[in-house]
Amino acid sequence: MFFTLLAICLPRSWFDLTNVSDIRVPGGHAFEVIHSLLHPSPYVDRSQAHDLPGTCSPQDIDIAIQASIRKALRGPVLLRDFALRADGGKILPGLTTAVHTDPSAPDQQTFGPEVIIDDLTAIGRCWSAVVPSQVGLSIPALIHPTNVTIDHIPRELAADIGRAPRRMTLWGVVDGKPNHARYKSVIAARARRTPTAPLLTSGHVFLSIASFKYDIAAESHIQTFPVSQDVVESRMNFGVFVLEIMDDWGAPEVCLYRVRIHGIPATLD
Ligand SMILES: *[C@@H]1O[C@H](CO)[C@@H](O)[C@H](O)[C@H]1NC(C)=O
Ligand SMILES: *[C@@H]1O[C@H](CO)[C@@H](O)[C@H](O)[C@H]1NC(C)=O
Repeated sequence: MFFTLLAICLPRSWFDLTNVSDIRVPGGHAFEVIHSLLHPSPYVDRSQAHDLPGTCSPQDIDIAIQASIRKALRGPVLLRDFALRADGGKILPGLTTAVHTDPSAPDQQTFGPEVIIDDLTAIGRCWSAVVPSQVGLSIPALIHPTNVTIDHIPRELAADIGRAPRRMTLWGVVDGKPNHARYKSVIAARARRTPTAPLLTSGHVFLSIASFKYDIAAESHIQTFPVSQDVVESRMNFGVFVLEIMDDWGAPEVCLYRVRIHGIPATLD
């Protein structure tokens, strides 16, 4: 958006841009805004190009930039996040890898796994763990999961992009009679090559519902992955999940910023 404006308005209004009113960004969303200004796609809907200012007056440019920011603040993921802590999502310590703080670096600020279900991304505000590791979480209602989203910070802002997660599996805990019956047919139809549980199980039965790779070279630092088709078609519902992180992009510890779980609320069936 910003570059489109520059292209349209240069050279006439180059200096006017210095007069664009200061850009206020609500806390925690600075990355999305900066990223959207640096990378117009995919945040900017190109079909909205007719929204560009008719003139290149500072007011028009200001309006266009504010509109671009509003769009960026809505984020690229317009799917409800059922894992959100503010809505009742919880971390389950029994299904989460214990993290020992490094006694040789006592000053280093560490964050608990709760940060990964907050709608607040800030550099360094992530859960660090040696890979492979896992984090268990429960959501306030049963859902038929459809997608999972992993947030990292933009590559340009990361001190060490090697800490971004790489290969991951989202597991669901199989609970209740109807789900166990559906689970049996899903498992029977799957080849036996896949692992059947994460590292820590707390005695639960697990089904892998999505296996995916976060791509540090992708255009967006917020990436959404689909749940396996056989799970979607099974109509199984889940309220407890484990995100297992197999590896990262080369650092000794992964730094997980956020996980979002999307789906359709389950009706009692
Ligand atoms: C920029 O703002 C200053 C101070 O408000 C004003 O004097 C000046 O005329 C403005 N420039 C333009 C091109 O609007
Ligand atoms: C969500 O997952 C479904 C399949 O479960 C897929 O068709 C859809 O494209 C995904 N949506 C996004 C935004 O990735």
